[in-house]
Amino acid sequence: MFNRSNPALTRRSFIAYSGAGMATAAFGMPSFAETKTRSFSLRAAPSRAQLVPEPHPETPAWCYNGKVPGPELRVRQGDRMRIDVTNGLAEETTVHWHGLRVPHAMDGVPHLTQRPIAPGETFTYEFDAIDAGTFWYHPHQRSFEQVGRGLYGPLIIEEPNAPQVDRDITWVLDDWRLTQDAAISDDFGAAMDMSHAGRLGNTVTINGQIPESFVVQRGERIRLRLINAANARIFALDFGEYEPRIIALDGQPVAPHAAPGGRVVLGPAMRADVILDCSTATNSNVPLVDRAYRDNEYRLLDIVYEGAPLRDAAPDWDIALPDNPLLEPDMASARRHEVLFTGGMMGAMVERDMGLSQSGGMMGGGMMGMRHDGRGIWFVNGKAAEGHMLDPFLTLERDASHVIQMTNATAFHHPIHLHGHSFRVITRDGAPTEHREWQDTVLMAPRERVEIAFVADNPGDWMFHCHILEHQAAGMMGVIRVA
Ligand code: C2O
Ligand code: CU
Repeated sequence: MFNRSNPALTRRSFIAYSGAGMATAAFGMPSFAETKTRSFSLRAAPSRAQLVPEPHPETPAWCYNGKVPGPELRVRQGDRMRIDVTNGLAEETTVHWHGLRVPHAMDGVPHLTQRPIAPGETFTYEFDAIDAGTFWYHPHQRSFEQVGRGLYGPLIIEEPNAPQVDRDITWVLDDWRLTQDAAISDDFGAAMDMSHAGRLGNTVTINGQIPESFVVQRGERIRLRLINAANARIFALDFGEYEPRIIALDGQPVAPHAAPGGRVVLGPAMRADVILDCSTATNSNVPLVDRAYRDNEYRLLDIVYEGAPLRDAAPDWDIALPDNPLLEPDMASARRHEVLFTGGMMGAMVERDMGLSQSGGMMGGGMMGMRHDGRGIWFVNGKAAEGHMLDPFLTLERDASHVIQMTNATAFHHPIHLHGHSFRVITRDGAPTEHREWQDTVLMAPRERVEIAFVADNPGDWMFHCHILEHQAAGMMGVIRVA
């Protein structure tokens, strides 16, 4: 039924595995002979970044290699990655490779998968790039502040036979809370942010800048890799006449389709690869608008035609991505599990409306249960993670298929992330999803029920948490064991 597959395979066994011709036939990987170890080094340290254009001053930030975002780590699928991470901060850190199916010891979760990296220390991460796609990296130690101060970067794994495009571009989106003098506001972990929608900022950057325009050539085909690195901001990008087609979500290929409702929606940590054909727009100046928050829509930049047209119409090149080597969950035999999210401001009311008021101590997740240290505001199956909560709340049989039904009994959106695996999103409020998309982070609306399915093929204790980093810090996380 299932082929035993372990993302923690060494490169050599990965080659044998993909050569076995199972779910990976679509791979068409001709050149594993060329795979190699690619070495990188990252140094996390305080630095400065010109986030807001002059005459505003530079912003003191925490950066990888002195830049925001950190360097784009780019390898080919099947390569082995080796990354030396040096801690130049005054506090402990780690690096988590978001969305990559790495062996447990390389997952970068302090105390769960490694000792945190002390100031001055170096830790070497090493793993195989088994899935192609758009990923990113960030600390997992006090993420709400370390990521919020600028520690994050893109990680791109190239397909051996990527669809042809004229340009391949990465946009890392972030949202900063800046003061008048362009400094990062110090109020990390504010109780108001923790109990509501997280730390929303006032300045949105693309690759650490605020560009006025994005210049394209008429007729050009662009693969745009969008990464949401914000602590809390959800983006809903409206490209107007450009009508992007989504080809991957969270790095994983999806049947190419138009953005639902004309918006590319990205909760924190989520990614989308879109194909932009710059021939659909008749205007030479098209605003790209973020419509995520109804009362607060704004223009991110203008997409502007410049120069001679490249071609008259969109090229007829194929845009579908080759599959990644993910195991298909078997729905007939899948074990079922339930996860309930509660808490936050107005949470008690939602629980009551959803008929969940019998759910034991969870009512305390509402207004009454809040503590002044900002912890214990959000609950996963009735428990709020305090500090480093390492005991698993769920154990999944290894190599079996599992369905997790998640219920968001709160008044807020939550992007729920599972480490070590990608999962198919199979239903929303009981209705099958159109694309059964593979994700590593699924955005749940208030009161929504979502079912995800996957084969638990990566052994270890894995973090499962909301990627609104203030929610995570205030209890919305837990550990799922695969054994
Ligand atoms: Cu990107 Cu546990 O996180
Ligand atoms: Cu949340």
